[in-house]
Amino acid sequence: MRWQGAHVVVTGGSSGIGEAVAELAASRGAQLTLLARGPDRLAAVAERLSAGGRTVGGLACDVSDRAAVAEVIGRAVAERGPIDALVCSAGITLPGRFLEADDETFRAMVEVDYFGTLWPIRAVAPSMAARRTGSIVGVSSAAGLVGVYGYSAYGAAKFAVRGLLESLRTELAPLGVHVGCCYPPDVDTPMLAAEEEHKPAETRAIAGSIRPLPAGRVAEAIATGIDRRQPEIYADVATRALARTVALAPGVYRRLFDRRVGQVQREG
Ligand SMILES: NC(=O)c1ccc[n+]([C@@H]2O[C@H](COP(=O)([O-])OP(=O)(O)OC[C@H]3O[C@@H](n4cnc5c(N)ncnc54)[C@H](OP(=O)(O)O)[C@@H]3O)[C@@H](O)[C@H]2O)c1
Repeated sequence: MRWQGAHVVVTGGSSGIGEAVAELAASRGAQLTLLARGPDRLAAVAERLSAGGRTVGGLACDVSDRAAVAEVIGRAVAERGPIDALVCSAGITLPGRFLEADDETFRAMVEVDYFGTLWPIRAVAPSMAARRTGSIVGVSSAAGLVGVYGYSAYGAAKFAVRGLLESLRTELAPLGVHVGCCYPPDVDTPMLAAEEEHKPAETRAIAGSIRPLPAGRVAEAIATGIDRRQPEIYADVATRALARTVALAPGVYRRLFDRRVGQVQREG
């Protein structure tokens, strides 16, 4: 994609991976529309990235609200023109054991992580298809590739994001629109810091001693994914290997994860 002057929309653009994508796109000369709920953080990021005369707009919006998303996307197009790339990074997580989780947790993950990816795509895809150009990237997770202890709510929503994007790719590719799905492992963001206190010990043991990636590394992978029109976007070798191994030999990870869970439970 030619980034200079392109209109890039980033949901969740006020923090973490979305903010890093926004920074990278701004550094390449893109015009930006950032969506998130909290207006203060959004305004602060938009102001910082506007330095140097770039056009950056922050529009407060809950991505799980279909009407609100349609309204702000319409405003973004009116202000900055047709959208060249959409990156759906807005998301929430709340790890916990299935037997201890409340029903609302399952609903919230699907509302924000799945529908919050679907509604922005529904708002931009018709125009991209009509113009036969554009790029749509959603952010799933390593927990959208394999079942992980403590992520029955989050993982289900992230598997749904993957299913949506894989199916959508087959329909939009012939129309000239790129669709990609990013699978980050643990990434050093406010989300990861907030979820730590809720993570069961078994979930931590599965992650092991792997260090979280910097958000900038995921942003670079997403930008490369857009440039090369990749259907699957990985920011690290380990997650790429996980995706390949799980497809070929799912029992390998089941045995490994079950062993780690067993160890933690035996240790009490
Ligand atoms: N960090 C990780 O380890 C990791 C790993 C794999 C995948 N991911 C995925 O990567 C994406 C970004 O995560 P992150 O770590 O960058 O999280 P983050 O730092 O918490 O940022 C999340 C962003 O999403 C926005 N957001 C949350 N709920 C929203 C809603 N209902 N409507 C609109 N905006 C909303 C937040 O702003 P407001 O709260 O102001 O709305 C914020 O801008 C998520 O989809 C996450 O599941 C993260």
